[in-house]
Amino acid sequence: MSEAVLILGATSAIARATANAFAARGNALYLASRDADELRRIAADIHLRYGVEVHHGLFDAEATDSHGAFLKSVVTAMPKISGVVLAFGYLGDQQAARDFSVGAKVIAANFTGAASILSHCANYFEPMKSGFIIGISSVAGDRGRQSNYVYGAAKGALSLYLQGLRNRLHPSGVRVITVKPGFVDTAMTYGLPGLFLVASPQAIGERIVHALGKSADVVYLPWFWRYIMQIIRHIPEPIFKRMKL
Ligand SMILES: NC(=O)c1ccc[n+]([C@@H]2O[C@H](COP(=O)([O-])OP(=O)(O)OC[C@H]3O[C@@H](n4cnc5c(N)ncnc54)[C@H](OP(=O)(O)O)[C@@H]3O)[C@@H](O)[C@H]2O)c1
Repeated sequence: MSEAVLILGATSAIARATANAFAARGNALYLASRDADELRRIAADIHLRYGVEVHHGLFDAEATDSHGAFLKSVVTAMPKISGVVLAFGYLGDQQAARDFSVGAKVIAANFTGAASILSHCANYFEPMKSGFIIGISSVAGDRGRQSNYVYGAAKGALSLYLQGLRNRLHPSGVRVITVKPGFVDTAMTYGLPGLFLVASPQAIGERIVHALGKSADVVYLPWFWRYIMQIIRHIPEPIFKRMKL
């Protein structure tokens, strides 16, 4: 069996494109998400297109108590798991998320659940002294804005968590890459006002796999978001707080 990649949140549009790009390289896949029927369809489609081995299983980011057993079942089914792509995420209604009972779900899905499964993955790869973790965060985590600060805070925390993991796992030879997409044309952004420079999920998926062959630790996708966010981060707070963003 070729080296296998675990994709968490595999029904997401970006994850699907990433899975296709890995399969095109000949990687076997373990696809995990909450929707069993959709997983079955995606797995069959990828197997048919690329002839690679594709397993799938249920994974809920918020069910943190199940994450240890989940990872054990993955590596039992596919002992050659060499890397993980964390692709799940939940934007939710950011206006409604001003109520913490709603905002808590955004934080649970994007950060608490991510930190939970990543801790299991890190503890698995570290003694093996190999492997990679690709975490899909967001440019939204680079600066708090009134339109999406709950999601942004969860993604910002995820970016910091990945940075710390990278520092911890570097001596073990485990690669940790933080991916920060800008706007991407997926169900998450469908119908949202004010989108610009919107990328296709296919372009993002291909660049995610491409990033593995490069040395960058933090990858903005498409590349120009690095410079857009540099400008946004440098706007002085007394000015920034008056802006409607
Ligand atoms: N689209 C953008 O503009 C954009 C920009 C920056 C970053 N991102 C990030 O990119 C990643 C992929 O996003 P996308 O745009 O491709 O999103 P998408 O198509 O809306 O998919 C989101 C995925 O997350 C899964 N998910 C949500 N909550 C989950 C949970 N508790 N447990 C397990 N899976 C859960 C969903 O599964 P179900 O189908 O079961 O709900 C779905 O597969 C996310 O991390 C997102 O935050 C997206």
